[in-house]
Amino acid sequence: MPVPLVIDTDPGIDDALAILLALASPEVDLRLVTTVHGNVELAQTTENALRVLHLAGRSDVPVAAGARESLIHPQPERAGHVHGDAGLGGVRLPPSPAALDHRPAVVALAELLTSSPVPVTVAAIGPLTNIALLLRVFPGAAARIGRLVVMGGSAARGGNVTAAAEFNVWSDPEAAHAVLTSTLPTVMVGLDVTLPTLLRPEGIARFAAAGPVGAQAAAILQQYLDVQEAASGGAGVVVHDALALTEAIAPGTLGAVRRDVVVDTSLGAGRGQTLVDRRRTSAAPTAVDVAETVDSAAAVEFLVSRLAALDTL
Ligand code: RIB
Ligand code: CA
Repeated sequence: MPVPLVIDTDPGIDDALAILLALASPEVDLRLVTTVHGNVELAQTTENALRVLHLAGRSDVPVAAGARESLIHPQPERAGHVHGDAGLGGVRLPPSPAALDHRPAVVALAELLTSSPVPVTVAAIGPLTNIALLLRVFPGAAARIGRLVVMGGSAARGGNVTAAAEFNVWSDPEAAHAVLTSTLPTVMVGLDVTLPTLLRPEGIARFAAAGPVGAQAAAILQQYLDVQEAASGGAGVVVHDALALTEAIAPGTLGAVRRDVVVDTSLGAGRGQTLVDRRRTSAAPTAVDVAETVDSAAAVEFLVSRLAALDTL
């Protein structure tokens, strides 16, 4: 029986790959996509989510828009220079025929959690504003989350948007702190495991050649590849969110340790840093399963083989 899945997202190039991966994975049933501010403005992340679902022939999946801004302090800057001004690497996908769900994201998520007879997996691959709001507005619904898989933070790899902070956490540190110190069953998929997991050109070529949907996925990825190769010189691209969805789809893909995690919500240079206590394994109910090890080759093969099957769905 496929596990019900919700993706909370800020598409976003790697978000788009993550959504497509979920649609190509029989282990999960994508029941709802909720959108949040982040890589680009909310209106654009929402439009992108609708169009990515339509690309894969799944405009039946409801999309509900969430927070347009972070909880307390305005998010300093978007990531158009990485994801393209419209968020999908310059690719203009055809518009979806589906209308946006009329409910706010937090309401749609709460209603799905409350009505589901089985635990729901939530993959949060953007700033955690919507999840923090769910905790505060619908705590009973939040408690029904079976697994929360968060792409965000870093235990020992520093930051990617500042020296200290990873982008999703940095975009709303107060929300991230509320979520990562809650009692939700949370897996933190941070830079420690995403940065070593490179999708290489030969892998991209496999799904690019598989059919029109795979070809569009590769086209969306191209700007990410160009930007990251220019930055690191490495022959490959880090698809952070796709690794988080791999863990959501195949629990245990990543090696995780239960750690106490807090977030620096100061306004100084450390803002948005996830402070992971790696001195010990934590037994606290607020502990987070922090992903610390990954078989990168296996994770990339999982992603490529599924994306290459997109056109056979
Ligand atoms: O730091 C990587 C994260 O920031 C990913 O979710 C990417 O989409 C960006 O939002
Ligand atoms: Ca994202």
